[in-house]
Amino acid sequence: MCGIVGYVGDRNLESVLLVGLERLSYRGYDSSGIAAISEGELSYWKTPGKIRELEKLLQNMNVQGRVGIGHTRWSTHGEPNEVNAHPQVNTVKKVAIVHNGIIENYQALKLKLIAEGYIFRSQTDSEVIVHLISRYLQDSLLEAVERTMLDLEGTYAFAVIAESDPERIIACKKGSPLIVGLGKNENFISSDINAIIPHTKEIVYMDDLDIAIVAQDKVTFKKLGGAVIEKTVHQIAWDATSADKNGFEHYMLKEIFEQPAVVRNIISASVKGDLIQFDGLRMGNEDLIRTTRFIIQACGTSWHAGLVAKYMIERYARVLTEVDISSEFRYRQMISGVNDIVVAISQSGETADTLACIREAKSKFFKVLSFVNVRGSTIDRESDGVINTNSGPEVGVASTKNYVAQLVNLYLFTLYISQLKWTLSQAEVQTMLMELKKVPDYIERILEQKEQIQAIAEKYYKKREFLFIGRGMNYPSALEGALKLKEISYIHATGYAAGELKHGPIALIDDQLPVVCIAPKCSTYDKMMSNIQEVRARKGKTIVIATEGDTDIEEFADDIIRIPDASEDLTAILTVVPMQLLAYYIAVRLECDVDQPRNLAKSVTVE
Ligand code: AGP
Repeated sequence: MCGIVGYVGDRNLESVLLVGLERLSYRGYDSSGIAAISEGELSYWKTPGKIRELEKLLQNMNVQGRVGIGHTRWSTHGEPNEVNAHPQVNTVKKVAIVHNGIIENYQALKLKLIAEGYIFRSQTDSEVIVHLISRYLQDSLLEAVERTMLDLEGTYAFAVIAESDPERIIACKKGSPLIVGLGKNENFISSDINAIIPHTKEIVYMDDLDIAIVAQDKVTFKKLGGAVIEKTVHQIAWDATSADKNGFEHYMLKEIFEQPAVVRNIISASVKGDLIQFDGLRMGNEDLIRTTRFIIQACGTSWHAGLVAKYMIERYARVLTEVDISSEFRYRQMISGVNDIVVAISQSGETADTLACIREAKSKFFKVLSFVNVRGSTIDRESDGVINTNSGPEVGVASTKNYVAQLVNLYLFTLYISQLKWTLSQAEVQTMLMELKKVPDYIERILEQKEQIQAIAEKYYKKREFLFIGRGMNYPSALEGALKLKEISYIHATGYAAGELKHGPIALIDDQLPVVCIAPKCSTYDKMMSNIQEVRARKGKTIVIATEGDTDIEEFADDIIRIPDASEDLTAILTVVPMQLLAYYIAVRLECDVDQPRNLAKSVTVE
């Protein structure tokens, strides 16, 4: 799960590679490196740590050349140290590769190569690739790459440079994403468009077993073992989006505060007068009208959005909705119906588990509709229909504004389907839209409590364990609140359906345990009140998320955060906001790396 980039041309090589790697660091950021060929000689530099460590290292180096490759890593095999960082080089340091993917038969290949005298320096699976190329390299680098591909099992996108072929990059793929960018007297390769879009908008998507021979003046494509092929060149219609912190200390905080604007944008893009419309949906209304079941696939925060969607879709559109964690979906023998639609939800559009699900679904002739934030991503391209979640670039690894954007889009989608299926009247849809339009102001009111939330964080930041409880559509909110806290502060946190407390987790409660209780005034309020009292009876500390004006709850709360009095269907969009802030301020107090927490990557591209 890594990002790779490559460049052949006259620009400053170091800067093209570093910009590319920075833009790819959502795919991993535990180590990085580059390799270049200058005057026929290969050089490479690599280091553990974030891209800024590589930048520092290169400040004192003289990176020259017109041909180079780069890599940002999320460790799968071997810890994140310099030796395991890419590029990986052959024994005599004349061939270098960068690889994204997992070579499943690397152990067998490694043993064979060691027996033949090859010396392995790293613990990576990727190192077998460079030794195999070296082994097969006689006259032709291309031929050596092809023979290597035949030996490899697993997934890969890799790029090679070699002193024996100093003017070109050879890049190929199977299972992992790879694109080629075409420029004027310059060419690029990358794991995604984002890394090279500042330089070119002419893109070729590589298919499995495609090989690109990338020279400065042209790129030739061929199939493994086959002849030269023509590939379609796509013109990318959007511009490079860059995100800066806008004066905020962290991207995450900036993204939390962007949420009112994100919701306003989505509403103005998708609600035109009385009509809800999704630009670029690519799926006909007939498919949606016919649907009798949605099967939602997603991971992490996006899965929580799917869980909330189930409450809304089943209640209003009356369509049976199942929600699967993508990595588990393939382990059940799903019964398929002709009118089922598989719905994938993904911020990045590159999550390997979700991608694998939609591929499996398509192989079984399901229609696939995706909610994706990153345009041009693999899930965007491979889905039959797409709703862009439109939250703008999200940089913080902990998803915040895109979660709220997913919930708003899923709410609009519910209304859209309900209209198509006549399960809601036009008047009911209009009332619900009016309610939705209040959400940006509501979120602003919650954000105004930031000092108070910071004070709560100060009170509890030393605790090593938290419980989050909620009911109905605020049960997924409890899961999301717990995920936010654990991923950025490394505090153990668990989300539970409040009714489940008594079936086990109540044993955890003592006077040390903070319990975040999500209790807006809605249909589950009375039951939540009982659960909060159960926590209090066992001396647990209650941090209650309650509706403005609810004074009854004060007696049972050690701390209160208020949300405006909104319609029940919108509470999940609101209750998550204070939990994002709570997690943020706790993580900052613990001096954690909020935007790039340890062990994580923004986009999880391995299964
Ligand atoms: C969210 O805070 C997480 N970092 C993570 O759970 C994420 O939501 C998950 O990996 C799914 O990513 P996707 O939405 O890009 O598919």
